[in-house]
Amino acid sequence: MSPRGGGEGGEMKRDFLKVTDLEPGEILALIEAARANRGEQSELLKGRNLGMIFSKPSTRTRISFTVATYDLGGHVTFISESELQLGRGETISDTARILSSYLDAVVIRTFRQEDVEELAAAAGIPVINGLTDERHPCQALADIMTISQFHDDLGRVKVVYLGDGNNVAASLMIIGAAVGCEVVVCTPPELPLEPWAVAEAEALAADSGARVSLSHDPAEAVRGADFLYTDVWFSMGQQKNPSKSAKLQPYQINDALLAQAGESCRVMHCLPAHRGEEITAEVMDGPRSIVFQQAENRLHAQKELLKLLMKDA
Ligand code: CP
Ligand code: NVA
Repeated sequence: MSPRGGGEGGEMKRDFLKVTDLEPGEILALIEAARANRGEQSELLKGRNLGMIFSKPSTRTRISFTVATYDLGGHVTFISESELQLGRGETISDTARILSSYLDAVVIRTFRQEDVEELAAAAGIPVINGLTDERHPCQALADIMTISQFHDDLGRVKVVYLGDGNNVAASLMIIGAAVGCEVVVCTPPELPLEPWAVAEAEALAADSGARVSLSHDPAEAVRGADFLYTDVWFSMGQQKNPSKSAKLQPYQINDALLAQAGESCRVMHCLPAHRGEEITAEVMDGPRSIVFQQAENRLHAQKELLKLLMKDA
């Protein structure tokens, strides 16, 4: 039977608001399980209800969490944040208490990381960050799962992110640092990764032996890379502007840049992609691209995340 009806901060519940909410060993176990259990259909979440509150668009996150829950025998309720009473002034903490009395876990996609943390602090159920302006930890789980699928020694992997120093870059550097990869985040000097993200990654690297660094020189950064990774130049909520595009143009993943990376280098992108901006169509649709495998892995990784957070909650 579902243990709904908590409402107040439950002792046992765990959230996934940022990569470091999982220990490095748990991340490795999760991706191993995700690889082993792909295609799982079970009743592990029978009678459980996952809520999804999104205030930004989504294809992968929304659908992969929905299918993951159904595959585990659970139910999903989706609502856009603008349709909640939150938009009319109900507080986040009151909302959290109400949701906790109906649901067994909630995925939220919104703007401010602080709002997700406030929701989690007041909720008696696990809260999962489905993307904020700062972080995209669920994406990072699928990213590291994908890397492990194409390279059998995470301690010898070099991943280079090129482009805007955004939420996806932050979570990638942090998860890479947790599991011992070399991660280079290469951005224009004016669009760097936030210092908090670098500090988090450096702290993890000190334990794992990972190497993390920043660069502004794409040709230098990609040398010897096993994976190149990019993301959109304008994240959800940002206005397009030509001056930012001009700064990012040298960081585009194209055939010329890829030729300077390792011979077996693969190309990753969290998607959605804008062909002709951060990545060319030739690379995106070419033989080195593993972006669709990476997108599929959202489903497998999140299924394991739901099992981890919801099985005993
Ligand atoms: N990568 C990702 O989170 O995609 P969606 O925005 O489609 O969910
Ligand atoms: N950086 C992008 C990621 C989309 C999945 C955004 O926040 O819009």
